[in-house]
Amino acid sequence: MKKVKFYNGVEMPQLGFGTYLATEEVGYEAVKHALEIGYRHLDTAQMYGNEKMIGDAIKASGIDREEIFITSKQFNHSTLEEMHKGFEQSLIDLQTDYIDLFLIHWPSHRNETNAHTWIFFESLYEQGKVRAIGVSNFKIHHLDALLETAVIPPMINQVELHPGLSQVPLQKYLEAKSIQLQSYGPFMRGGIFEGRYQETLAEVAKKHQASIPQVVVAWGLARGIVMNPKSVTKERILENFQAQFIQLDFEDMEKINGLNRGKRVYTDPDNSAWGY
Ligand SMILES: NC(=O)c1ccc[n+]([C@@H]2O[C@H](COP(=O)([O-])OP(=O)(O)OC[C@H]3O[C@@H](n4cnc5c(N)ncnc54)[C@H](OP(=O)(O)O)[C@@H]3O)[C@@H](O)[C@H]2O)c1
Repeated sequence: MKKVKFYNGVEMPQLGFGTYLATEEVGYEAVKHALEIGYRHLDTAQMYGNEKMIGDAIKASGIDREEIFITSKQFNHSTLEEMHKGFEQSLIDLQTDYIDLFLIHWPSHRNETNAHTWIFFESLYEQGKVRAIGVSNFKIHHLDALLETAVIPPMINQVELHPGLSQVPLQKYLEAKSIQLQSYGPFMRGGIFEGRYQETLAEVAKKHQASIPQVVVAWGLARGIVMNPKSVTKERILENFQAQFIQLDFEDMEKINGLNRGKRVYTDPDNSAWGY
């Protein structure tokens, strides 16, 4: 499995396993299956309500904790005490004494709130409770503001990214600052199977004897982006995993790049309900 390296030297498997809406018995079986077939990077969040299930699945897999890269995410909280409580609960639920990567889940509309939360994140990093820290759903203006006060810059930014929203300007910005880019929602809530997206992606998929989701994951990986598709369906978990072996050429990449329309299918971070 190919890895990306953060500026602090920590490595993260470039293909991960998303777990939003993967809960209870179905989620547990899916995570166990993902680990069995070779995924070593799990993406969760306190908000998903599945950290305990993930901790259980990791235990049941028999795989050493150090071999698995775990990302979790926390919302901004108004007090330090609440932030500590949230983080400590994640450790308890995931049944671990450290988290590989911890992210601010959504930016606040108030830069001071993000800066305040970031001080807490930096303290976790300095204490060795997390191996890396980052942000999610941050736009360039959120990052510009955060970097004014951050002592330790974020190592990664996880954002909505798929063929309809290729995030090229954000990728350029992050590259210049040595911050890794990670995608979520690669399948556009089903949009990749519709209209012009379907037509173009099906052409590329046919050429590689692959499926449309595989081509989308391969496109992200070829751009150096961390991808973490989610599925609770055994065949799809394997299908998505095998996307790492598909090599798209320049012409394929250009075709998929040409699908970008700045189309969001998730929430715009500037208008989220979590930005209080
Ligand atoms: N940071 C954030 O704010 C944020 C926001 C959203 C998501 N995320 C993370 O990113 C991960 C991925 O995003 P997502 O879960 O929203 O969406 P996604 O991975 O784009 O899509 C998941 C959906 O696609 C289906 N699917 C998966 N593989 C498929 C395949 N090979 N063929 C056909 N359908 C397939 C799944 O169905 P089944 O499960 O029924 O198979 C599920 O309905 C999340 O799980 C989460 O870890 C982060």
